Amino acid sequence: MDLTMLRSQFPALAQSNNGYPLCYLDTAATSQKPQQVIDAMNHYYHFDNANVHRAAHLLSARATTQYEAVRDKLCQFIQARRREEIIFTHGTTEAINIVANGLTSQLKLGDLILIDAAAHHANIVPWQELAKRTGAIIKPIPLTTDCRLDSAAFDTLLLEKPAIVALGHVSNVLGTVNPVSNLVAKAKQVGAITLVDGAQAIAHMSVDVQDIDCDFYVFSGHKMYGPTGIGVLYGRFALLDSLSPLMTGGEMIKTVSFSGTEFNQLPNRLEAGTPPIAEVIGLGAAIDFIDAQPKAQVSAAEQTLLIYLQDSLKALGDVVLYGAHSDNLGAVAFNLAAEHHQDVGILLDQQGIAVRCGHHCAMPLMQSLQLNGCCRASIGIYTNKADIDNFITAMQSVKELLL
Ligand SMILES: Cc1ncc(COP(=O)(O)O)c(C=O)c1O
Repeated sequence: MDLTMLRSQFPALAQSNNGYPLCYLDTAATSQKPQQVIDAMNHYYHFDNANVHRAAHLLSARATTQYEAVRDKLCQFIQARRREEIIFTHGTTEAINIVANGLTSQLKLGDLILIDAAAHHANIVPWQELAKRTGAIIKPIPLTTDCRLDSAAFDTLLLEKPAIVALGHVSNVLGTVNPVSNLVAKAKQVGAITLVDGAQAIAHMSVDVQDIDCDFYVFSGHKMYGPTGIGVLYGRFALLDSLSPLMTGGEMIKTVSFSGTEFNQLPNRLEAGTPPIAEVIGLGAAIDFIDAQPKAQVSAAEQTLLIYLQDSLKALGDVVLYGAHSDNLGAVAFNLAAEHHQDVGILLDQQGIAVRCGHHCAMPLMQSLQLNGCCRASIGIYTNKADIDNFITAMQSVKELLL
């Protein structure tokens, strides 16, 4: 794998920050975009710009063909059974809201919703709102002291026969990978509906929704080298079809009269209004980009780099790592002794290093770690050893300054 060549496809990486080469270690927040994604979106706006579906003219036909071709690509990319199981959303957040809202009439007072204690707020708050509407009860699935999902506690909670189990595939803070196939299989045995938040998994591993066997799998385009404003909701056809739509209006109907409306079939039924067409096309280009890379080599290289990052931080001394394991993916969470994470982040930025600081939209996880926040360094396909070395050099000088 020629990493120099690969990096050259990401124009944003070839700049400096405060006189230092930009060292982008914030891919978990959003990934940089390869030129082919930028080009695909530009091309659409230059030549094919038209609304999709319905119209009889050339540009609309071209836009519709490209738009629907991405649905086919996604179907293959995550091994869905049929293209109608792929719903375009604006992101992971909207996808989970569609599911949580759509299940309202299927839940009743006292039903139990289990949520991964390390979940992102996007996989917590929509379920809390569902619970408010229905009288359902929410319980977190606790973590072990080494920040993995507590499988024994999960088994015990399953005895209460939850209606819904919402899991993260990979923690956006810690990078911990949940054994989702195993957890989903157990949840299914007690009849629960399962949703897996794949926002942090999709860029780092092959995802096969049939193998995971979950009912819903959701992710965002912008974390997998695609544009912002586009995400995917995969749902098992029958369940997806049973969701009442969150958004209603144009595109999602079959007939409308003032005596009533008949909704369209999937996938249109859950895609009201003009969709983010350029973003869908950009996502298609991101899939082409990922598919063109040697998968096994990429994941081996990312794994080696992540372990190097963890080990280098440990070797610095005075750095506290949270939930660091050798099988984590993509991210390392840390603090420099008792220093405020924001101070560390600002001082790193002065040396060209981009990391993220704060609660990372995972306040319950922060509470269980007894933290106000932490720093997170995260990697992508373009991250190289020099990025890690520059980061560690900068951390050394931050340490000298603050401690
Ligand atoms: C695990 C996880 N879930 C959900 C989200 C929300 O994604 P989006 O803001 O693209 O909707 C994120 C974003 O950071 C995430 O990391």
